[in-house]
Amino acid sequence: MIRSIVRGTGAYLPERIVTNAEMATLVDTSDEWIVARTGITQRHIAADGEMTSDLAIAAAKAALADAQVHADDVDMIVMATATPDDTFPATATVVQAALGIERGFAFDMQAVCSGFVYAVATADNFIKAGQVKTALVIGAETFSRILDWEDRTTAVLFGDGAGALVLQAGEGEGTTDDRGVLTSHLHSDGRYRDKLYVDGGPSRGTVGHLRMEGREVFRHAVVNIADVIDEALDATGLSAADIDWFVPHQANRRILDATAKRIGLPPEKVVMTVGQHANTSAASVPLALDVARRDGRIKQNDMVLLEAMGGGFTWGSALVRW
Ligand code: UT7
Repeated sequence: MIRSIVRGTGAYLPERIVTNAEMATLVDTSDEWIVARTGITQRHIAADGEMTSDLAIAAAKAALADAQVHADDVDMIVMATATPDDTFPATATVVQAALGIERGFAFDMQAVCSGFVYAVATADNFIKAGQVKTALVIGAETFSRILDWEDRTTAVLFGDGAGALVLQAGEGEGTTDDRGVLTSHLHSDGRYRDKLYVDGGPSRGTVGHLRMEGREVFRHAVVNIADVIDEALDATGLSAADIDWFVPHQANRRILDATAKRIGLPPEKVVMTVGQHANTSAASVPLALDVARRDGRIKQNDMVLLEAMGGGFTWGSALVRW
C-alpha cells in the first residue's frame, strides 16, 4: 500500500524574543505566575511587517533542503493557519509563488491549534489516493496580531512561528512496521465555539481578538486528547510502550504532563517546547518535530505520536513511523 513518508522538516522563529519579564511590563502578570501555570518562559514575536507567509516560506525552504526535494517536485501545499496574510488568496499560494512553484495546488486549512494534525491527515489522504506524490505540509501563525495585548489571561500564552514537513509517497506492507503516517483521527464539536474564538472576521467587518475561557478549554483538552490518542492506539493495535516520542500541541506544560501520565508515557519521551515557543497554534507541532529531529532525538523508524486540540473545538491525533 501507499504510505506518506516524512522526508524532511524545517522551522522558523521570528528573531525577537519577548520574555515573561517583558510581558510583566505590558500586563499585570509575573514570571512566577506564567511559569507555574503554563511552563512558558518566553515567546517569539514577528517584526512589524513580517507576515505569516514570511515565516512559512522560511520553514518550507528549510524542510525542502532537509528532505533534499526540489520545489518543482512539490504537488501540493497544505498550510494550516488561523492567521493568514490576507482574507484571500490562501497564504499557501503566496508560499507556492515564493518557492517558484507553478504546478500542483496550494490551499490553507483552518482548524486553529489542531490545524497541523488536520493538514497531515489531509495530505496523507491525497497521497494514499494516488493524487499526490510529494506534499509540503506547513503550520504557520502570527497570533501576536490577534491577541488583545491588554488581556493578561490570553496575551501571555501565545507566540509566533512556523514549521513544515515534506511527505512523500512510498511503498509499505500495510503493517505498523511501515514507515510513514500509520493512522490519523480528526474531530470537531462546534457547540464549544464560544470557549475559544476570535471576535471578528471578514463577515463581521473586523479582524478581532482572541477570546478564551482557559479553564474550560483546559478541562476539555485533557479528556479529548486522551480519547483521540486511545483511538490512534486502538486503530493500530499499538500501546503506549510502542511510542518513542510524543510530540503534542504545545499549549500548556500542565496539559502535556497530565496527558503523558494518563496514557502512561514517561516524561523523557515527551517533546516539550512550550517553554521557549509558547503556544504557536498550528505551528507548535511541526516546530517541536523539527527541534527533536535536529537535536537527534527523533530518528528513522521511531514511532511518533502527534496530537492537538484547539478552537472549534477541534482535536486530532496521528501516529507516524519516522
Ligand atoms: O491552544 C488551544 C488550547 N488552549 C489551551 O489548551 C489553554 C488551556 N487553558 C490553560 O492553559 C489554562 O487554563 C490557563 C493557563 C489559560 C489559565 O490557567 P488556570 O490555572 O486555569 O488559571 P485560571 O484561569 O483559573 O486563573 C487563576 C487566577 C485568576 O485569578 P482569581 O480569579 O483566582 O483571582 C486569574 O485572574 O489567575 C489569574 N490570572 C493571572 N494572573 C497573573 C489569569 N491570567 C493571569 C496572568 N498573570 N497572566
